[in-house]
Amino acid sequence: MFYTIYEFLKMSETILIIGACGQIGTELTQKLRSVYGNNSIIASDIREGNEDMMHSGPFEIIDATDRETIIKVIEKYKITQVYLMAAMLSATAEKYPQKAWELNMNSLLIVLDLAKEKLIKQVYWPSSIAAFGPTSPKVNTPQQTVMEPTTVYGISKIAGEHWCNYYHQKFGVDVRSIRYPGIISWKTKPGGGTTDYAVDIYFKAIEEGKYECFLEEDTRLPMMYMEDAVNATIQIMQADEKEVKTRTSYNLAAMSFTPKEIASEIKKHIPNFEISYKSDFRQAIANSWPQVIDDSQARKDWNWQHKFDLESMTNEMLINIKKQQEGVLPSM
Ligand code: SER
Repeated sequence: MFYTIYEFLKMSETILIIGACGQIGTELTQKLRSVYGNNSIIASDIREGNEDMMHSGPFEIIDATDRETIIKVIEKYKITQVYLMAAMLSATAEKYPQKAWELNMNSLLIVLDLAKEKLIKQVYWPSSIAAFGPTSPKVNTPQQTVMEPTTVYGISKIAGEHWCNYYHQKFGVDVRSIRYPGIISWKTKPGGGTTDYAVDIYFKAIEEGKYECFLEEDTRLPMMYMEDAVNATIQIMQADEKEVKTRTSYNLAAMSFTPKEIASEIKKHIPNFEISYKSDFRQAIANSWPQVIDDSQARKDWNWQHKFDLESMTNEMLINIKKQQEGVLPSM
């Protein structure tokens, strides 16, 4: 009997997503359910998710720092892979440094240990452009370069990357990671990040025709549309083990823009749209990050390709938010 690759994957993997109700987790869960089958994807979070999440497949309440509950769920469903998506993002982490460190680090160390003990076979953990700092090259930031982050979130990401690499080198743990840029989606709102403005701006453009931006007009940051981010995540997890040569985390890029540039793209659709600027503490965070990322290593090693640029993303965002508001699509 012959199986297609997807049929084979569906039979062989049972996946736990920790932090499934967050910005990326929500859409990743739905995509994984469509690829592997609903019952093979166990969503979990500290709180219940939206209707879609709760009714499309199994769901468990898990605190990402609670090792015992994680083990119970892994044993209950015979989990083979864990996607650890729970984290405190950059802006919130500056307000709660200790809590951010505990959540971002302890959850990772628990999951890496479970992989070391062979309870699971494969781990996905996201890093971020925040792992870089003010001394890293700002343009075409290389895969390997000076990394001296100055934010709590960035410190947790660079430390996490090295823990991933350590567990891989020392114990053979198959852990894979991507340094996400700012992620933009109309389905799920981000919470507590510095790149969140690039989501809010679309909603405010449609709802109010104006937006006050918390970053200055020329602040260039790397960004990506959610569909590309979710596809990249599944792609690196499905890649042949030999192809995944970097075990800290891969640079990943699609586009870079400033608030002024995204505003003028929106103006092509909503000519009266107005943007104003009032920067806050998030400006310093953004200033410490790269502007344009060099992701040639990911493109070479596991054939990463992005689909969306600023123009096509803006089209999708505005069309879908309008549909949400007309009640044609479910709102956030
Ligand atoms: N989007 C994240 C943040 O702004 C960066 O990884 O915190």
